Amino acid sequence: MQAKPWGGRFTEATDKFVEEFTASIDFDQRLWKHDIMGSIAHAKMLAKQGIISAEDEAKITSGLEEIYREVEEGKIEFSVALEDIHMNVESRLVEKIGDAGKRLHTGRSRNDQVALDIRFYMRDEISRVRVLIKQLQKGIVGLAEAHIDCIMPGFTHLQPAQPVLLSHHLLAYYEMFKRDLDRFEDCFRRTNVLPLGSGALAGTTFPIDRRYTAELTFFPDVTRNSMDSVSDRDFAIDFCAASAILMMHLSRLSEELIIWASAQFGFVDIPDAYCTGSSIMPQKKNPDVPELVRGKTGRAYGNLMALLTLMKSLPLAYNKDMQEDKEPLFDTVDTVKGCLTAFVGMLPGLKFNKERMRRAALMGFTTATDLADYLVRKNLPFRDAHEVVGKAVRYCIEQNKGLEEMTLEEFRKFSDLISDDVFAAITLEASVNARKSEGGTATEAVKARIKELYEAGEVR
Ligand code: ARG
Repeated sequence: MQAKPWGGRFTEATDKFVEEFTASIDFDQRLWKHDIMGSIAHAKMLAKQGIISAEDEAKITSGLEEIYREVEEGKIEFSVALEDIHMNVESRLVEKIGDAGKRLHTGRSRNDQVALDIRFYMRDEISRVRVLIKQLQKGIVGLAEAHIDCIMPGFTHLQPAQPVLLSHHLLAYYEMFKRDLDRFEDCFRRTNVLPLGSGALAGTTFPIDRRYTAELTFFPDVTRNSMDSVSDRDFAIDFCAASAILMMHLSRLSEELIIWASAQFGFVDIPDAYCTGSSIMPQKKNPDVPELVRGKTGRAYGNLMALLTLMKSLPLAYNKDMQEDKEPLFDTVDTVKGCLTAFVGMLPGLKFNKERMRRAALMGFTTATDLADYLVRKNLPFRDAHEVVGKAVRYCIEQNKGLEEMTLEEFRKFSDLISDDVFAAITLEASVNARKSEGGTATEAVKARIKELYEAGEVR
């Protein structure tokens, strides 16, 4: 049996079940790299401050470097009896270098150590998520540029509303992901603060130099209250909140792709490589990837709720409850990265059916607002124009035809303000391109936004 690093005051061995029950090594071993790097920085700081000798520091550093390689090569078997990653690494170090290893934990607690490890690890993961979001945005802009002449029905209430450019619809997601990127940037800023040096909760009696540890670990700042430092998991909640919103956006895009890929819509064909078939129905090609992304959104929401609930009643400072922060957080990291990776791969292969989309845009009187605006330009008050066009639509429904299929004679039954320039005003192209207002769907407005994105260096 392995001796516990904290075994001194105990007379009985830990219950076997309790040992398993309280251990976190199964999941916190993910932090091994950052645990080791943090310990090396801590040892160097201790030596610089004369708290441990230079020889001990040298032994600790090379011992930890060896352990780093051992873990990398899969040569270390982590032990549940040693509870967590921190005690596993430390025990291995003591095994290797003896007394010097026992000095590493001077002026430190697992409470500030774990706070450092998670922040340190999350810094890398947030950066990865940000790179993936940027790749996704690039994919969206690529699709928008390639389909700049593709017109589709824009919907409200999932009823045909007004014609829009497919590019405009896609770029709506660009803007959502831009705000997501911003949230992760914000989250990074708050995560990027060093908590080490807070001790168990009250600080330490040793003359440590937290700024030096921060320098060695590339943290631009240190936390200012030792009790807050070991109690705070806001940064993890920040990440899960930003992730929940990002997943909500991905889920909406997924939902649209699923609808658009249906036989009834037929707007898009999702690449075979991102779909699966049915074991019974030979004709099936199912949009599994967007469906799974939509489904995994629930998991991301759940993880956020788990963390908020975990933290809501904890008295200061550290409580063992907080060990439960890792699984939801890590699961969110994996989920978000997985979903983004799938989308980055899938988007460029989407094949849009321009003809289908155009035909769909002609259905449902999507240019009715344009006809009303036409009458307003002929000086009819908008409310009256609305009424006139409503009646024309009613007539078309009865006649089973589109507005653009009416003759001038028919039009004039509804208003004598209508003349033969009406036909040019209610084509799909005219409808789209008339919406030149900043942020509108006109080709020139959409192209201007794309140009702006390149000029601002947002997309490269
Ligand atoms: N495994 C623990 C966690 O993840 C590390 C901190 C333990 N500290 C303590 N005082 N038991 O939270």
